Amino acid sequence: MSKNSAVAIFMALAALFAWPSIAQDVHLGVKSCGSSGCHGQVASSSSPVLLNEYVTWQKYDKHARAYQVLLEPRSQRIAKNLGLKNAHEAKECLDCHADNVPEKQRGPQFVLADGVGCEACHGPGSAPWMGLHIGGSAHEVNVQNGLLPLEDPVVRAEMCLDCHLGNSNQFATHRIMGAGHPRISFEVDSFTDFQPAHYVIDDDYRKRKKVVDGVKTWAIGQALMVERRMNLMLDSKFAGSGLFPELAFFDCHSCHHPMSESLPTKNGNFPAAWSARPGTGVGPGVVKFNDSNMLMLKVALDIAGSGLADKMLADMKALHKASQTSKAAMTSAASAARETARAAVKALSAKQVGKAEMMDAAKTLSAQSAAGYYADYESAEQATMALGAFVEAMRVAGHIDRAAYDDLSKRMEGVYGAVSDDEAFIRGAFISAVKKVNSAL
Ligand code: HEC
Ligand code: HEC
Ligand code: HEC
Ligand code: HEC
Repeated sequence: MSKNSAVAIFMALAALFAWPSIAQDVHLGVKSCGSSGCHGQVASSSSPVLLNEYVTWQKYDKHARAYQVLLEPRSQRIAKNLGLKNAHEAKECLDCHADNVPEKQRGPQFVLADGVGCEACHGPGSAPWMGLHIGGSAHEVNVQNGLLPLEDPVVRAEMCLDCHLGNSNQFATHRIMGAGHPRISFEVDSFTDFQPAHYVIDDDYRKRKKVVDGVKTWAIGQALMVERRMNLMLDSKFAGSGLFPELAFFDCHSCHHPMSESLPTKNGNFPAAWSARPGTGVGPGVVKFNDSNMLMLKVALDIAGSGLADKMLADMKALHKASQTSKAAMTSAASAARETARAAVKALSAKQVGKAEMMDAAKTLSAQSAAGYYADYESAEQATMALGAFVEAMRVAGHIDRAAYDDLSKRMEGVYGAVSDDEAFIRGAFISAVKKVNSAL
């Protein structure tokens, strides 16, 4: 360790101990994690953690820009449409675009404009772990003292979902979407990969933390997304009023697509028109709620050999039916689905995922996709992210060699291409791209 960093750490410690009166839930600010002697070094270091996390976050991670985006004209426009004074001071926006803790939980170095900073994900730094970890305490000790164990897929997903799906406090309603907010999609394992990594999972990491493979992280994430969707649907705040329920729970594209798409082309193909989805029991002309996570969870439970798979499918069908019946029917169907999802989190957490399960997952999902099971955009997008996660997990676990991985990745590019623009989604193109993945497995 250089003399400079020793001095910086000393100063960080001194600063911490100079605030004995700071309560445990105070967020100290990105600056207090990202100083040059701590997580703000320019090059990665040989210590257990990289120590250049701040630089990665600040330079490459969109979370560092989440607040700045609220100052842009498009956010101003959204705010104006919603009748808000502006976006960068509105709770409706800040709750997801910054670490918007109440004033009394903001330490002296806290800056709202830092956007989604370290403590928005890792937990408040004033909890005793901050001081302890500077002194080199073990990970378990830090966790016991308030650091969130984000290596745990349940803890990680619950945290990401607060902003990438919503919770009782913050939710991107159809009103916000209608004002111009982009559609939000999420899958915990893929998005973990999409986020520029400020850590490496090496032998040392594995010694300190339990590493869970991508397939299991995906599966648990799906169960938690189902549970979360049901929670939001059952929340009286978002139940909707008047004739229509909250439209954000429905498949956006079941309403938002040109009618011309339902007409046959010259060669008799229907580019994106309605067609029956095997097993889901929804007829034409129906506004379909977004069941993409339920469909994925069914696959996950099948692979895990859990008896809950059939229950999930039955719950999903019941929910579709209830959505055409009454609000009371919807409430009881959503409660039942939530219970199944909760049980699924437990069952999937206990499951070991080996080579056979990973292969099975990739084969099953790609075969179903090729057979037209995921015909609508929302589920095709989820199936794509799932397949991407499986291929990556097989590489990491060493279940496929370099050549097989490169070949699969090339084929996956076609699938990603087919879902890259929801407005231009053509089911046939998705199916033919995914067939190429299936045939290589
Ligand atoms: C429930 C959390 C949530 C709320 C509430 C929310 N956002 Fe977002 N917003 C997101 C997420 C997540 C994304 C990124 C979506 C993606 O790319 O997957 C996003 C993306 C955006 C983008 C596009 C950013 C880009 O880089 O392209 C803009 C602009 C935006 N939000 C503005 C707003 C405004 C203005 C408000 C308040 C009216 C608001 N948001 C409320 C979660 C939220
Ligand atoms: C969007 C959420 C998010 C943000 C923002 C974020 N992190 Fe992380 N961080 C993660 C996740 C997920 C992991 C991987 C799981 C783990 O090891 O905890 C991680 C891992 C780490 C690790 C562990 C490395 C190891 O080898 O054990 C450190 C240190 C870290 N982050 C520091 C930071 C710092 C400093 C910042 C702010 C500059 C920051 N993080 C911002 C989500 C985030
Ligand atoms: C406090 C809210 C919040 C939390 C917690 C959060 N995010 Fe985000 N995330 C956002 C917002 C807002 C954006 C959009 C930022 C922008 O584009 O300006 C975003 C963007 C992203 C993007 C870039 C998406 C794109 O379209 O390029 C990824 C990837 C991502 N988040 C992953 C994660 C993961 C993984 C976690 C959990 C480990 C997580 N986020 C936790 C709010 C959050
Ligand atoms: C039940 C049908 C329905 C569903 C489902 C639905 N919308 Fe809408 N949406 C509408 C209607 C109706 C309008 C108002 C159109 C107008 O003002 O002319 C609208 C308006 C919008 C607008 C403003 C632009 C426009 O077309 O007027 C956006 C953006 C939008 N919705 C996004 C979404 C997203 C994202 C979802 C999924 C989370 C979604 N919608 C789900 C019916 C729906």
